[in-house]
Amino acid sequence: MKLSIFSHQKCLNSVPLNILGSQPFRYVLSKTLYWLKNNIFNKKNKNDQENISSEVIKKGYADKRNFLSDEDFTKIKKEFDEAIFEPNVIIEKESYNDSKDLLEAIEHRTLMIDDSVKDKYPALYSLKDNLAIKHIFSNCELKNNIEIFCRLERIKVHNNKIHDNNKDFHYDTFHNTFKAWLFLKDVKEEQGPFHLVPYSHNFSIKRFFSEWWYSIIYALKIITEPSFRIEEGDNDKIRDNYNKKSIKAIVPKNTLVVANAHGLHRRGDAENGSVRESVQFWTRENPFKIFLK
Ligand SMILES: [Fe+2]
Repeated sequence: MKLSIFSHQKCLNSVPLNILGSQPFRYVLSKTLYWLKNNIFNKKNKNDQENISSEVIKKGYADKRNFLSDEDFTKIKKEFDEAIFEPNVIIEKESYNDSKDLLEAIEHRTLMIDDSVKDKYPALYSLKDNLAIKHIFSNCELKNNIEIFCRLERIKVHNNKIHDNNKDFHYDTFHNTFKAWLFLKDVKEEQGPFHLVPYSHNFSIKRFFSEWWYSIIYALKIITEPSFRIEEGDNDKIRDNYNKKSIKAIVPKNTLVVANAHGLHRRGDAENGSVRESVQFWTRENPFKIFLK
């Protein structure tokens, strides 16, 4: 893989560069550029009547209930129910480790919303370009010209005793990056609500050193995931503490949840047989080009 310090690659795969501190350097530089643009060069959020993006920038999390009109929501839900069982849907059952038991842990169905679904699912296709969502992401990324990805997601839990990587607290990457979910069914405790530790995206010396440490053990192949994780069983006290601090996205259907996935977060503990359905949106902009477009 090409090595580029000034890319949005989660972590470089180089032992010498990581020992020399390329990861904490990227962390500090990306945070500094974001801070400068937000505090010195940014114009006020003009398009965000609900101030969702200001809250996400500050706290790392915000939600907006009754996001779509009842009529639009019904259309989306109807199309989702059909589209998520299309034959070309991606079904992952085994993505977490080598254990063969994992085949039955969860059924994770996803379908990208792109031009291929335009004619068959027009309401879903137009949701990808929803103006309110575009404004929220644009405000959070501090840029006008951004690329938003969109997919349908359905998670059915078969066996919650089997380890699911996404239930470990983790940081998606070293810089501010945003995700949103429009939930199509009520999310209760048993559906495994998204957890996020508020303000955990803020700069800290502890994070500086943990980015450094993890980048070295990643390059040495001691860990395989470039999204740095606190693994279950590793440190139960720390995990309990983060659980207590977390915001849990227990929300009614038709709520838009927006989060900074640079902060510490995880998938919640769902009950067996439970289903969580959402339309998911995300950006992955290059943090070093924040002033370029
Ligand atoms: Fe994540």
